[in-house]
Amino acid sequence: EITCPDQVFLDKLDRELKIEPKDWMPEPYRQTLIRQISQHAHSEIVGMLPEGNWITRAPSLKRKAILLAKVQDEAGHGLYLYAAAETLGISREKMYQQLHNGKAKYSSIFNYPTLSWADIGAIGWLVDGAAIMNQVPLCRNSYGPYARAMVRICKEESFHQRQGFEILLTLSRGTPQQRAMAQDAVNRWWWPSMMMFGPPDASSPHTQQSMRWKIKRFTNDELRQKFVDICAEQATILGFSLPDPLLKWNATTGHFDFGPINWDEFNQVINGNGPCNKERLDARRKAWDDGEWVREAAEAHAAKQKTKAAA
Ligand code: ACO
Repeated sequence: EITCPDQVFLDKLDRELKIEPKDWMPEPYRQTLIRQISQHAHSEIVGMLPEGNWITRAPSLKRKAILLAKVQDEAGHGLYLYAAAETLGISREKMYQQLHNGKAKYSSIFNYPTLSWADIGAIGWLVDGAAIMNQVPLCRNSYGPYARAMVRICKEESFHQRQGFEILLTLSRGTPQQRAMAQDAVNRWWWPSMMMFGPPDASSPHTQQSMRWKIKRFTNDELRQKFVDICAEQATILGFSLPDPLLKWNATTGHFDFGPINWDEFNQVINGNGPCNKERLDARRKAWDDGEWVREAAEAHAAKQKTKAAA
């Protein structure tokens, strides 16, 4: 019996087996993974910038040490994800190029500024909270190297979420000024965090196919709803409000209803016109240019070692 590779591939997906780098896979599956994993990696790396902004101004040595460790974790996540994408046959240099020339996206959320210390709390609670909601199911995605990378990333990400919640809890028990600063941060980060899940299912070009391929396990709207349900409860514990007058428990659906999302703003941000897009890309391009001598030195060193070994 001759079985075509496409059938073998689909059969593996149906049986919940992982697709591994040397397995046959349809070209569009490979391209979708390269797109998603590389954009995910870029998001981790660009995500270091808004938080890095507060390392030198963290309010105590302890907070500074925690923030430093957190930002270093993001670098690690970016690196495992680039490594996972490389198993699909794209080079790291090519991925960087696609980021720097604007061909590859990175998460919309990192194009917003961090205006106060409380933003570090709000990012941990809301942005990392949204990231975990989206990323835990990715531990079960069908591509082996991506799924395995996500396991460790999610463990670290849940620590990040807890530290953000704890910053906000501390501020909520602080002075009236500290409470006001934290509420302002929550107000500014809420809607952009809701947009992190991507466009509504009805206008998401990739969801249906990615669900079939078991890259995505839930749709954008399903994950967004889970996020709202959890945050609405946690906001009460923190004593902050969420900036949505239409947020309301719905006993019929068993979920919180929420108000309309400003998709114009989302489209502006993903098309390069968010508040910090230019600043973020300039910072990444500068890092690449400034690192040129390091890459050259590393290559020269490797060449020398090779000559030595041959001699
Ligand atoms: N920011 C930027 N671009 C986005 C966002 C967003 N929040 N949401 C969707 N998009 C883009 C998609 O990348 C796609 O663009 P492309 O075709 O140029 O690649 C387009 O909008 C249409 O969206 P979808 O059809 O919904 O695309 P997709 O199936 O890829 O779903 C999602 C988007 C949910 C972000 C998915 O790619 C994903 O789960 N990625 C992995 C998680 C991730 O990248 N997280 C990064 C932020 S978390 C963090 O780093 C802390």
